[in-house]
Amino acid sequence: MQRILVTGALGQVGSELVPALRTRYGTDHVIASDIRVAQRGAGDEGPFQLVDCTSQRQIQEAVRRYQIDTIYHLAALLSAVAEQKPQVAWDINMGGLYRTLEVARENRCAVFVPSSIGAFGPNTPTDGTPQDTIQRPTSMYGITKVAGELLCDYYHGRFGVDARGVRYPGIISHVTPPGGGTTDYAVEIFHDAVRHGRYTCFLRPDTRLDMMYMPDAVKAAIELMEADPERLRHRNAFNVTAMNFTPEELAAAIRRHMPGFTIDYGVDPVRQAIADSWPNSIDDSAARAEWGWAPSYDLLSMTADMLSHVSGGMTLTD
Ligand code: SER
Repeated sequence: MQRILVTGALGQVGSELVPALRTRYGTDHVIASDIRVAQRGAGDEGPFQLVDCTSQRQIQEAVRRYQIDTIYHLAALLSAVAEQKPQVAWDINMGGLYRTLEVARENRCAVFVPSSIGAFGPNTPTDGTPQDTIQRPTSMYGITKVAGELLCDYYHGRFGVDARGVRYPGIISHVTPPGGGTTDYAVEIFHDAVRHGRYTCFLRPDTRLDMMYMPDAVKAAIELMEADPERLRHRNAFNVTAMNFTPEELAAAIRRHMPGFTIDYGVDPVRQAIADSWPNSIDDSAARAEWGWAPSYDLLSMTADMLSHVSGGMTLTD
């Protein structure tokens, strides 16, 4: 039976991955950890440990105390915050990953590491972005993601650490807000639609990006970690996507349920520049071929489910 440590467990992905892992492997087999204590959520339904992932000693203590064999290393700053605090982003995103991989090497743990569409840059092919392609990102977030992908490959090749990962697109969820990403508009829009019937978007109406609904993001992590290693030719940094759309297209999907919904635009140049440097649509055929990746939600089914959760089951009309 696996014994799992999740870092960054109170973040957007962790808040939903931890309960899913506990359902699958047993509550006591999944240790949630974060730099702060939970108000509610991931930490209070099972074991919780305070861990600052920039401290190798703290990661090491948690791994030894709970006899961990698998680490889901989610602790990281997202793209927009990383651009505001590049030095802190380097420490957390790179330092945290390096220390986690070191602990994994010493204790023979497998590691899941999320990379991102942020690992691509302005000279990456933008449509049908291949699995193996040019990666020269211009944001600090992207730089830490590419370096992280390489570091995971290195730890596997050099030390045999079973490090695996996906390149997530923007993730849409209703449990915990993302906090500081360029794709956050696709979450905020649902809350503002339900509360105010309108939304001011910080990206231009025609900004096309890949996205995924949280149940698929959780499924991707678990299925990749359970995949037969013999079939994994890439192992790290698999492109995965479920849909791609522009703010204009997402607004139109919301309007099918709320005909009076309106959107306007107040573009944030920093986040727009980051979004413009990312692909329009990525090709995830390697993930499909090597471990059977297939998403369950598209734009329309995600929109219907998000609206029903965010509105708390209210009937939505204009
Ligand atoms: N959703 C992330 C961000 O916007 C992309 O990895 O930062």
